[in-house]
Amino acid sequence: MRIVALTGAGMSAESGVPTFRDAQTGLWARFDPQALATPEAFAADPARVWGWYRDRAAGVAAARPHAGHAGLARIARTHGLRVITQNVDDLHERAGSPEVVHLHGALFASRCSRCARPATPEPLRLPASPDAEGRVPPPACAYCGALVRPGVVWFGEALPAAAWEAALAAVREAELVLAIGSSGLVHPAASLPAIAAAAGAAVLEINPSPTPLTALASASWRCRAAEGVQRLAARLDAGERDPAALLAP
Ligand code: OAD
Repeated sequence: MRIVALTGAGMSAESGVPTFRDAQTGLWARFDPQALATPEAFAADPARVWGWYRDRAAGVAAARPHAGHAGLARIARTHGLRVITQNVDDLHERAGSPEVVHLHGALFASRCSRCARPATPEPLRLPASPDAEGRVPPPACAYCGALVRPGVVWFGEALPAAAWEAALAAVREAELVLAIGSSGLVHPAASLPAIAAAAGAAVLEINPSPTPLTALASASWRCRAAEGVQRLAARLDAGERDPAALLAP
């Protein structure tokens, strides 16, 4: 069966990685994205931006994949599934999912802000000494001397073209698309479930809260990612292939 999992920040929540828009715990409830996640913010205060991404990287490095990540990797091995994620963490990879498509880049893929060469070894994993405000100057590119930046997509930037093309191709030929843990607010990633539905795929939303995707989903499971993925995996393992039975509450 051709299954595609579209994952957002809610996929990583049970691993302890904060989401963006959940009230109180969401990153954008506590931090100003314009001051931290735009090219202008990096140009204005690179040490502030780099220091903030160092903190996020430390949180991700300390996190462990949960049963939902493992469940998607198992479905990939046994039934066929591709992961397309808005997440910049590496939890899908560490759980064993092959060929993860990162629509918004990857935290541990820092690169030169001018020549775009990858920075190795990954500087976000190296020790550093933040100042009292958590600021850390980013390293200089070993080739051209410009500042190294995080390998993520910032507001106002285009998605990596190859990732977007791969995502489009995958959802257009999918039979079942899982929309897991995304608020469905950030485009163009948020348009993928609608593209899949228009191409004939069944869309299963797994999210404790309703989202703009709910209206177009074939079914919505109001549960957390780990529980929803394990439920689906059990049905697939039992040989269920009928979409209505697979997606029943
Ligand atoms: P959001 O923070 O906008 O939405 C997280 C979603 O996860 C919400 O709908 C929650 O209800 C849901 N959720 C919370 N806990 C969950 C759990 N345990 N299981 C399942 N779902 C859960 O995150 P995204 O939609 O991923 O972009 O955000 C999209 C983009 O906005 C991010 O990729 C990032 C951000 O700005 C960039 O950095 C470019």
